[in-house]
Amino acid sequence: MEEERIIGAEMLNEDMDEISLRPRRFEEYIGQEKAKSNLKIFIEAAKQRQETLDHVLLYGPPGLGKTTLAGIIASEMGVNIRITSGPAIEKAADLAAILTNLNPYDVLFIDEIHRLNGSVEEILYSAMEDFALDIVIGKGPSARSIRLDLSKFTLIGATTRAGSLSAPLRDRFGVVSRLEMYTPKELAQIVKRSAGILKIDITEEGAYEIARRARGTPRIANRLIKRVRDFAQVKGEGIIDLKYAKEGLDALEVDKMGLDKIDRTYLLTIIDKFTGGPVGIETLAAAVGEEAGTIEDVYEPYLLQLGFIDKTPRGRIATKLAYDHFGIDMFEK
Ligand code: ADE
Repeated sequence: MEEERIIGAEMLNEDMDEISLRPRRFEEYIGQEKAKSNLKIFIEAAKQRQETLDHVLLYGPPGLGKTTLAGIIASEMGVNIRITSGPAIEKAADLAAILTNLNPYDVLFIDEIHRLNGSVEEILYSAMEDFALDIVIGKGPSARSIRLDLSKFTLIGATTRAGSLSAPLRDRFGVVSRLEMYTPKELAQIVKRSAGILKIDITEEGAYEIARRARGTPRIANRLIKRVRDFAQVKGEGIIDLKYAKEGLDALEVDKMGLDKIDRTYLLTIIDKFTGGPVGIETLAAAVGEEAGTIEDVYEPYLLQLGFIDKTPRGRIATKLAYDHFGIDMFEK
């Protein structure tokens, strides 16, 4: 289901040219002011001391630019970056191979770091703390452990859920940075920047309309620009103005607040089936036919940000704003 969402925040194949849109330096990177200003200081300080940057954990919903930020950190430090992900590192030996190939000061970026398996994670502890690998050679009574020194490196881990990281791993990050959803104003700047790079004509109002419906996520905004351009090109003169932005987005079934069918189903399930809640996440997941984890990581962050739902100890509730969005009177139900 998620694969087909035009407003899904996960990376899709069609987003590959997103890479050309990625800013390479802080000065091009819009938004995330808090994370950015702290990171700039830590980078400057590390450079002055000629040390590696402390390990950095970036967390927050998908599509907010964690990989982009890791790339910028490496460029600003003037070092190489090696990119991999938790699920891609299957065995301890895979990680050992990556680590022994790093040059001094390099950045190792591990996306979805909460999905590392236990034996791999163990290796990472001494690598992060002592820049060393403890390797066991042989089996049984003759087995012995040797210590292999590594180059000093910076690990940048990214995760959608900091809560599912084990405590020993989390504690080994000196810098922990939470990425926030972007404001429509920031997204409009990103849309204009991307349109410039892609040579797409867009008006201020057109950019703002896309920004308002991109659910706080640059990856979605960049995807919507390309789809809306098709409408503007075929039905108009190729310029994304307010009219074609609205027409295109309506045709894509992305509503005024950026909700799609799945969001609407989720909200209407709480409102209609559970009389507005509270309803437990597992019950809700079964009712909408999705996994609880997906609902928490993918659907709910934006609905929480909009204030359409609240998480209470007894479960999820739909707020008055959600009722208003559908034109349903909260007190008549
Ligand atoms: N493209 C994707 N994310 C961006 C950001 N934060 N700033 C500028 N361009 C972007």
